[in-house]
Amino acid sequence: LASTEVDLAPIVEGQAVTVMWRGKPVFVRHRSAAEITSAREVPVSQLPDPAPDQARVQKDQWLVVLGVCTHLGCVPLGQKPTDARGDYGGWFCPCHGSHYDTAGRIRKGPAPRNLEVPQYAFTSDTKIRIG
Ligand code: FES
Repeated sequence: LASTEVDLAPIVEGQAVTVMWRGKPVFVRHRSAAEITSAREVPVSQLPDPAPDQARVQKDQWLVVLGVCTHLGCVPLGQKPTDARGDYGGWFCPCHGSHYDTAGRIRKGPAPRNLEVPQYAFTSDTKIRIG
């Protein structure tokens, strides 16, 4: 499928879902206020792949990223409540230990880049279309 629709209405704050798009997992996370604050309080200049949180989201509470580690392509952990989320509360890649923050940015480990933000659009207040 060239594009994938996601209904955000059932995804409660703090919860994340994974959808498939073009054969790849896409992580959609409903961020809490604390997760947004933590993504915004770090100075951008200290990041390995500098990008402000605001440039990675369309609405503060919704983060949409490809679930593909930018090191060698494993699927990072952090989607299930019981998953390890790493030192920065986002995702942890168990393959070689990359830690991503609550904006999906690489913070520690061998991955060279932030988790990629796919092209997507809000088609209503509670729906997005990826692709
Ligand atoms: Fe994720 Fe190597 S593939 S850290």
